[in-house]
Amino acid sequence: MVRDSKSFLKEEYQDLVKNDFDWKLRTLEGPSTPRCRVAGKDVIMLCSNNYLNLSNHPKMIAAAVDAAKSHGAGSGSVRAIAGNMDLHDELEKKIASFKNREAAVYFQTGFATNAGLIPQLVGKEDAILTDSLNHGSIIDGVRLTKAKRYIYDHCDMGEMEKALKQIDKDGARRILIISDGVFSMDGDMAPMDQICKIAQEYGAMTYVDDAHGEGVVGPDGRGIGAHFGIEKQIDVEMGTFSKAFGVVGGLAAGSEDLRNFAYNKTRTYLLSGSAPPATVAACIASLDVLETEPHHVENLWKNTKYFKAELDSLGFDTGFTVTPIIPVMLGESSVAKKFSDRLFEEGVFALPIVFPMVAKDKSRIRTMMNAGLTREDLDETLAAFESIGKELNVI
Ligand SMILES: Cc1ncc(COP(=O)(O)O)c(C=O)c1O
Repeated sequence: MVRDSKSFLKEEYQDLVKNDFDWKLRTLEGPSTPRCRVAGKDVIMLCSNNYLNLSNHPKMIAAAVDAAKSHGAGSGSVRAIAGNMDLHDELEKKIASFKNREAAVYFQTGFATNAGLIPQLVGKEDAILTDSLNHGSIIDGVRLTKAKRYIYDHCDMGEMEKALKQIDKDGARRILIISDGVFSMDGDMAPMDQICKIAQEYGAMTYVDDAHGEGVVGPDGRGIGAHFGIEKQIDVEMGTFSKAFGVVGGLAAGSEDLRNFAYNKTRTYLLSGSAPPATVAACIASLDVLETEPHHVENLWKNTKYFKAELDSLGFDTGFTVTPIIPVMLGESSVAKKFSDRLFEEGVFALPIVFPMVAKDKSRIRTMMNAGLTREDLDETLAAFESIGKELNVI
């Protein structure tokens, strides 16, 4: 038999290109700043997750440089063997205190947190309940479990409770309920207060992925638990340093039991090298900045309110957002793609979100607000939205 195990590489890629589903990388020529240089053009950045512009904070850059000098470029090992430095310990204490929790674990990335921790929390005698719009890293974590899966309609508490009743009847040993905190495509927020209340009635464990809420929602950006005042009711508060905190790395905050369990069971933690000193030191500094400089979070929300209100008054549909993720709903994917291309020509970098990331008729430009954008930047951006919106008959 003549076996061809390689031609799919080219064919599948060409198929993506033919359908315009391939990712076209645009290169950032310098730091991710509110005004930056992308693919040879000066643009206003409207699609970065660097919500607070902390990736450029002088204290964080200085902390990274100092740590590289004092501790080296890399950690030398996985944490469980010889790669656990004093910096990792310090960061975890700081996360726990920032999150007002007993303990925390720092992982290499948010993806590694979800993919590593979720499969350890439930087994084949258990049930896992997950929101239909949860992030891909949760989906992958769930796929790695042997637990029975139940997917409830997005934020639909009635559906969630119906599934819980069924799970109860089926006699699951443990139940894990997982939801994004802030949903990355629409900017809406999970009703974590209701989820926790219902979870208590069924003795379920709760897990929130607060990647887009950490540093953004709640007092001083302490996340969705603090936003609802229910930190202690959420068993696992997962988050990432790659977005508002401006660095990289995942976190899971909760009880000491959770930390001890995660240290010993999570394979992405046990079997993958630990984050380098510069990264860890920058993460520590990001928490210091959030605790001592409240204006970053305040500016983010000031910009969010202004930008959304102006888009709405121009006649754009911004969907259900309640956060700095502001989608501009455009329907057809060809319109969203054209809109994004025209924005780039006008000096605004904002990507289209199209099928298969969202339903075919729900294409949009997803804008992400940034604390470092000035009123002048926002007005220039809004002028571009207005003229392109009229040109493409969207408003
Ligand atoms: C909701 C959500 N969870 C998890 C992640 C993964 O986080 P990280 O970038 O730290 O791997 C992301 C990032 O895209 C995300 O949006």
